[in-house]
Amino acid sequence: MGEKKTYYITTPIYYPSDNLHIGHAYTTVAADAEARYRRLKGCDVMFLTGTDEHGQKIQRKAEKKGVTPKQYVDGIVSNIKSLWKLFDISNDKFIRTTDDYHQKAVQKIFKKLYDNGDIYKSEYEGWYCTPCESFWTETQAKDGVCPDCGRKVERMKEESYFFRLSKYQDRLIDYIESHPDFIQPVSRKNEMLNNFLRPGLEDLCVSRTTFNWGIPVTFDEKHVVYVWVDALSNYISALGYGSDDDSNFRKFWPADLHLVGKEIVRFHTIIWPAILMALDLPLPKQVYGHGWLLIGDTKMSKSRGNVVDPVILINKYGSDAIRYFLLREVPFGSDGSFTNEALINRINSDLANDLGNLVSRSVSMQMKYFGGINPAEEKAGDIDREVRSMLTNLKSEVENYTETLQFPVALSEIWKCVSRLNKYIDETAPWVLAKDESRKDELAAVMHTLLEGIRIIGILLLPFMPKTAPEILKQLGLENDKEACDWESTDKWGTYKPGTAVVKGNVLFPRIDAAKDLAEFEAMSLAAKEKAEAAAKAQEEEKNEGLISIDDFRKVSLRVAVVKTAEKVEGSDKLLKLSVNAGDRDRTIVSGIAKQYSPEEIVGKKVILVSNLAPAKLKGIESQGMLLAASCGKELSLITVDKDIPEGSTVS
Ligand code: MSP
Repeated sequence: MGEKKTYYITTPIYYPSDNLHIGHAYTTVAADAEARYRRLKGCDVMFLTGTDEHGQKIQRKAEKKGVTPKQYVDGIVSNIKSLWKLFDISNDKFIRTTDDYHQKAVQKIFKKLYDNGDIYKSEYEGWYCTPCESFWTETQAKDGVCPDCGRKVERMKEESYFFRLSKYQDRLIDYIESHPDFIQPVSRKNEMLNNFLRPGLEDLCVSRTTFNWGIPVTFDEKHVVYVWVDALSNYISALGYGSDDDSNFRKFWPADLHLVGKEIVRFHTIIWPAILMALDLPLPKQVYGHGWLLIGDTKMSKSRGNVVDPVILINKYGSDAIRYFLLREVPFGSDGSFTNEALINRINSDLANDLGNLVSRSVSMQMKYFGGINPAEEKAGDIDREVRSMLTNLKSEVENYTETLQFPVALSEIWKCVSRLNKYIDETAPWVLAKDESRKDELAAVMHTLLEGIRIIGILLLPFMPKTAPEILKQLGLENDKEACDWESTDKWGTYKPGTAVVKGNVLFPRIDAAKDLAEFEAMSLAAKEKAEAAAKAQEEEKNEGLISIDDFRKVSLRVAVVKTAEKVEGSDKLLKLSVNAGDRDRTIVSGIAKQYSPEEIVGKKVILVSNLAPAKLKGIESQGMLLAASCGKELSLITVDKDIPEGSTVS
């Protein structure tokens, strides 16, 4: 037997977040379906996911929480891992960019690029968005806001290492043009060529000195490797690239598929391939940029309070229902809306009504008419043959669509068969056949068609619904029958053998009371919006911490005052006792200016008095206000007026 074909598929590595939303699950669920499919096709699969843990944003969050960045990310990664567990994600490896082997590989990669002249030292200046960790050009950051998230950008300048991205521009264009499958869907390929590559690439800043939560550059330790070189390298470091054991790298690289959301296609199809070219490594076979799951027409975000929590949904409806929805609802590659109505509708109609009913009706009829045991004799008619041929053709449809990542179409092909079988039950009316002993063979043929059809559907659903599909096969009595559950058997009729006994199981998908659940979701969403608004307000307040309002400032009464007399305070070398007048009355002020001003030189000066300060006693003398002065170390200068303004004038 020849070597197994390999298949290497990756998701992006996720930013640590304590509340991943349903949109985040989109990439991973899709990648999981593909990975499961390839395994069923007999491939030796490596399915990689993980977390992208460095950067200023994390450092700041950790500081705020009073923990180290590592402690902070350690706390979150387990949430992400458990979400993937809830979704039955079958990743073969989980990489963290804080893993030791990854850090070493990145350091080697950086050094190699530097030694080859692809990385050089220079200075970077630009508009920086801290939350997005992105520098933007003048035109991109127009109006002083980040084009991605809309938040304010800051002008930043720093010594940095640069990657010679511009050097690879022509090679990238050639490669993309001569490898039509490299960027998919095609619209994203055109976007990359027309919006980024053809207008020209600039060299890329790949190190930072303004924060230190990152992988240190070995030959210049005040720099840390900036996020993209660190993050993108995970795809090869996870395979042992640059380590003592790089057998997985040799086995699995180049990747068959990097599955990513559309906003990071640019990094995966321009920066990453250029780095690989610089390292003299082959490029991944395909980068597929899927669309976004939106709420209405906006992206989900915590600050908008419109995120949908996948854990709540899974607890309510089960992970397979959510996986099904994610894979079925939106044409893969396009943006699509998430609504609770659409989710409930899919569950009630496709899952409970169509699939669930088909299985439970068929199993019940088999119990009723044949004691649950698949009968031997059968007499297939035209209608049986037509349905059977539809079912044996399903495999190739599902394979074609799954291989091109058209999951919604693959599922809709499966559901065409589910619907056909339901209709077939109505057409053949087994309950009528059962009443007539002479039509027992016909009844056997119908039950064969149904159960064999469900067997095929059950197997073909394995990549998409990893809990439901095995449950269906179990109810058919095939739990331990490897041969009858083999993917390759799904285009062969007759694998559901006579004598096989069905096992009545639980209802696959209970019907949902839509009105009740929608009301519950509405209440949750209101609460989330309120929470988001409160958080935004708190953030605003925090931003203004240390600042005072104009009303606060107006509380301070500042007046021009003339110094009438001055003398040293006995027993102090710092204090002068002054008599000043701010246009109303003479008042005594004790001021700490004796080291900088002699009594003689200060008399007659016009100074600024805080005239509504509560009196305070200094060295036993009541001071009835305070003079404004600027100080720097031992230097001190009274604030005076440079024009002849009468005493009592207000300062504002
Ligand atoms: N850390 C980077 C990737 C580095 S890869 C070398 C990153 N992380 S992320 O956590 O922001 O995103 C992870 C994945 O979730 C991306 O594929 C992203 O497109 C996807 N999604 C996040 N929100 C989404 C939706 N609302 N809809 C669909 N997918 C979206 O980017």
